[in-house]
Amino acid sequence: MVCIHILNGPNLNLLGTREPQIYGSDTLSAIETACHAHANGLGATLIFEQTNSEGTLIDQIQCAGREADALILNAAGYTHTSVAIHDALKAIPTFKIELHLSNPHARESFRHKSFVSPAVNGVICGFGAAGYRLAIDAAMAAVDDAASD
Ligand code: DQA
Repeated sequence: MVCIHILNGPNLNLLGTREPQIYGSDTLSAIETACHAHANGLGATLIFEQTNSEGTLIDQIQCAGREADALILNAAGYTHTSVAIHDALKAIPTFKIELHLSNPHARESFRHKSFVSPAVNGVICGFGAAGYRLAIDAAMAAVDDAASD
């Protein structure tokens, strides 16, 4: 069975009340429920986690490297600051997708730099909570492609 890990970085636990004009009104818990339903419908198992700590996020990336067929990462603010998260992503062979609810390229210039983008297979951003479903679909397609090679 395909195993997907979805990891969420700092402040994403506040979704629902955090700047809803940018991030929407869905809570992370509602997004998690929808992701489990979508992944299970596609026959995949899903691990869904959130942390405000950079070190914990790195531990979770390393765990995905051992256990997951695909990693979907919304590193939130660490996207724009973390060499250590870049290095952790480079260290694992897993298929990797960078995900953002908003489109950072259309926002403040400090969000235009991503330390995550050069270390992943693809990026999904700007589709709000629906991006999580799109990322699961993209991960499943990539895993299927790899299996049929
Ligand atoms: C975010 C975009 C980041 O720039 C920001 O720091 C976040 C959330 C997004 O999902 O749109 O915390 O990753």
